[in-house]
Amino acid sequence: MKLLGLLALAGTALSHAHHDDAEVVPEHLRAELLKKWDQEFSFTGHASFAHLKPLKCLVEPDEHYDIAVIGAPFDTAVSYRPGARFGPRSIRAASARQMAGTAYNTRAGINPYSAWATVKDCGDIPITPFDNALAERQMYEAFLELGSRPAITAADSKYGTKGISAGKAKLVTLGGDHSVALPALRALYQIYQKPITVLHFDAHLDTWNPIRYSAYWQSEQTHFNHGSFFHKASREGLICNATSAHAGLRTRLTGVDDGDYMNPGPEQGFMRVHADDIDELGGPMGVVDKLIERIGLDANQPVYLSVDIDVLDPATAPGTGTPEPGGWTTREFIRILRGIEKLNIVGADIVEVSPSYDNKGETTALAAAQVAFEIITSMVKAGAGEDLGGWYGRKETVEEPKEVKDEL
Ligand SMILES: *[C@@H]1O[C@H](CO)[C@@H](O)[C@H](O)[C@H]1NC(C)=O
Repeated sequence: MKLLGLLALAGTALSHAHHDDAEVVPEHLRAELLKKWDQEFSFTGHASFAHLKPLKCLVEPDEHYDIAVIGAPFDTAVSYRPGARFGPRSIRAASARQMAGTAYNTRAGINPYSAWATVKDCGDIPITPFDNALAERQMYEAFLELGSRPAITAADSKYGTKGISAGKAKLVTLGGDHSVALPALRALYQIYQKPITVLHFDAHLDTWNPIRYSAYWQSEQTHFNHGSFFHKASREGLICNATSAHAGLRTRLTGVDDGDYMNPGPEQGFMRVHADDIDELGGPMGVVDKLIERIGLDANQPVYLSVDIDVLDPATAPGTGTPEPGGWTTREFIRILRGIEKLNIVGADIVEVSPSYDNKGETTALAAAQVAFEIITSMVKAGAGEDLGGWYGRKETVEEPKEVKDEL
């Protein structure tokens, strides 16, 4: 007791002394500390995304960025296995080997964390698990707040995307169950003032009329679920019906035939690429061509990229709420993502990562962190101010090999 008291006193005295002559730390000491300790290994530090400085941008109105990573830990709108509220944490932990100094993306020919863009990890939205109507509103307000802040790179800069998203910040959301896409689309509609093109990678349609889950027991809130959010979004006029697409589908449908595909309404607003189509289309680049043909490369039409990790086969991504065998491999999917890098992506999500069903190698979270890396790479590459070539898989369009510099 005595010893503890003494220590406490000593502590107070010391902190007072420190406080009284709170001198400015000399620059050379600061520089030395930086030289010695401003380094991380992949396994050190706070578990932020890609070792970015952990921030809570929602309570820091002065935080600006070109690209913000934001967690949406929400999973009370699922129809099968819950647990995706832990997705953001697991994806961040699995992103540990992405560090600015060692993140050159050879597939794309750019290091997204060391190029023109300021990328920040903005932390999580504190979403209530007790009231989904309130959760919907919290997510919408958070996405609108973060997405409305002017980007660090101004519209007239050499860098940054041109067209409708010039000067605008881009959000990459780590889910959370898939229903987080509805408030995200509502916010984007507010920001861009026009229906958004949706490119949706998923085993499932997610355009289902909510009566699919229960025709009798319904309420306004049962309509907000992770299988019907695109139905709702479409009916609200948020989705562009002429340019949107599903890719990677292999879900079971309702009833005794493929009538779900014929439903008038939201189903007709999406082109469908099935998981198996990759064979008929001659591989990932065939899928890419089909998607680009549908979506187009119009700089004035915003595209939202929504990735349900269950688009991947459960062999690599078992940690998800509604797994469906027969999906694409991580390699195929990454290749498709690289192939669509020229789309005008203004926002994205990676959802349905549910770590309690993941394996010891955390392959689902790893895949999700890699998907986020590829998407962020595309966003940065799109604003590089020059054509960097390297559209992966189309090597014939890549520029001449660079000359070896003398000093090397
Ligand atoms: C897309 O189609 C749906 C269903 O027909 C409709 O409710 C919605 O308003 C359409 N969206 C737009 C932006 O026109």
